Amino acid sequence: MKRNAIFFVLLFSLLFLVIGCSKTDVAGTESEKEKLSLEIIETISEEWKSSGHQYAVTATAGRGISCGKCHDGVGFAEQLEYADIDFQPDHQTGIDCQACHTGFGKERIDTGTAKLPFMDETFNGGTGAVCASCHNSNSNPDVLFAQSEAGELSRYSYPHYGMNAALLTGQGGMEIPGANYLVSIAHSTIEDSCVFCHMPETEKGYKSHTFKADLKYFDQTCGSCHVDQTIKTFNIGGLQDEIKEQLAKLEQAILDATGAVRIEAASGSFTYYDAEGNQITDIPHEAYVATYNWRLVAKDGSYGVHNPLYAKSLIRESYKYLTGEDL
Ligand code: HEC
Ligand code: HEC
Ligand code: HEC
Ligand code: HEC
Ligand code: HEC
Repeated sequence: MKRNAIFFVLLFSLLFLVIGCSKTDVAGTESEKEKLSLEIIETISEEWKSSGHQYAVTATAGRGISCGKCHDGVGFAEQLEYADIDFQPDHQTGIDCQACHTGFGKERIDTGTAKLPFMDETFNGGTGAVCASCHNSNSNPDVLFAQSEAGELSRYSYPHYGMNAALLTGQGGMEIPGANYLVSIAHSTIEDSCVFCHMPETEKGYKSHTFKADLKYFDQTCGSCHVDQTIKTFNIGGLQDEIKEQLAKLEQAILDATGAVRIEAASGSFTYYDAEGNQITDIPHEAYVATYNWRLVAKDGSYGVHNPLYAKSLIRESYKYLTGEDL
């Protein structure tokens, strides 16, 4: 009996101890969590402010939803609700939190799907589908190729800035029928696509919002597949150097074939200038195709990393088409 009493006293004090502890534990975790998340939002906002997304590209202001669907945060988030002419805001918005976390942007993150101008099928990019909705070159090169071949191009249209998904998917280049294109499937099918490499998880446990491919996270991004610990560079195997060299050769071949000394890209189209500064208007079809792919790879900014085999193929096949020779 005495032993039992002692046992129960012990048991109850133990129970109280456990309940008491767990109560303070829960309360402590909750308030800590709240404080942490506010801190995290502040950090995320700071990171976002370090990116180009915070600014609106003013050249696109007042030009309706055709530019606003990628250049105005509100226009992007609500693009399905505006007809072309109806979207004329008094002020432009950058690519802000609501652009990606409400409306059309949120839907891309939640469904993991996007429609890209050069693909019939839906792009399944996981959370990266939101990035690909804007960073896709805004053109369908197959249509341009056909028009160019038939001599029906109204102007020498170029792939728009932010052509990253055109390369990453291995489908958005100007392909020559019958030519041979290889694709680095390992890169084009990475889970969450752009987000995997451009928004890695930080030490504090949230996804980085600088949107940069940062070498600091090499182990987590590239290093998850490229396990050789002696390389900590994006220039794996010298690919970026090789691509830069090949781009210079392709550019020279375009200049030789057209008689141009300089090619400008402005207001949506290429302009070719001769040594006297006069515009050359009669550009051979093959030279246009080569110029398109040259800009696509050169302005993507990854120098082949987005899709090593596809970037190489685009340069190689364009060069061959233009010069009849191997690069
Ligand atoms: C609503 C369209 C839109 C979306 C969605 C979008 N971007 Fe951008 N992005 C832009 C524009 C416009 C710029 C150019 C901003 C400027 O003028 O510097 C840009 C610039 C960039 C740059 C260049 C570096 C910099 O800081 O300016 C990177 C890298 C980038 N975006 C990555 C991403 C990633 C990764 C995602 C997805 C998480 C994404 N973007 C989603 C429109 C978008
Ligand atoms: C499919 C999405 C999309 C559409 C539509 C679009 N853009 Fe862009 N544009 C982008 C992205 C993404 C970038 C930024 C790429 C980067 O910096 O990496 C960009 C960059 C630019 C830049 C260069 C900005 C800089 O700071 O260097 C200009 C200028 C521009 N766009 C003008 C326009 C105009 C004008 C229109 C409408 C006729 C338009 N864009 C429509 C996605 C788009
Ligand atoms: C999901 C796995 C995976 C990730 C993540 C990945 N790679 Fe790759 N990468 C591969 C595979 C597999 C190949 C070889 C086959 C091919 O080209 O498709 C490759 C090829 C390459 C090549 C071609 C040169 C060579 O060695 O043949 C370069 C350069 C490259 N990757 C760089 C990068 C960089 C830089 C990152 C990070 C920003 C990265 N990769 C992330 C799997 C990956
Ligand atoms: C395999 C990893 C990987 C994937 C996936 C990836 N990127 Fe990149 N991206 C890179 C690397 C590496 C660079 C080059 C950074 C450097 O050299 O500093 C780069 C460069 C860029 C740049 C140019 C940055 C600048 O400052 O000019 C933009 C914009 C960009 N990527 C957007 C995207 C978008 C959009 C997607 C998805 C469609 C994507 N990336 C998918 C690794 C990746
Ligand atoms: C260009 C698109 C883009 C912009 C702009 C953007 N985010 Fe995000 N954000 C994302 C993506 C993609 C994720 C990852 C979603 C996922 O994994 O489910 C994310 C995740 C988050 C998360 C969850 C963190 C985590 O690790 O899961 C928070 C919180 C967040 N964003 C806050 C913000 C705030 C605040 C802003 C504005 C200062 C902002 N975001 C701007 C694309 C964006």
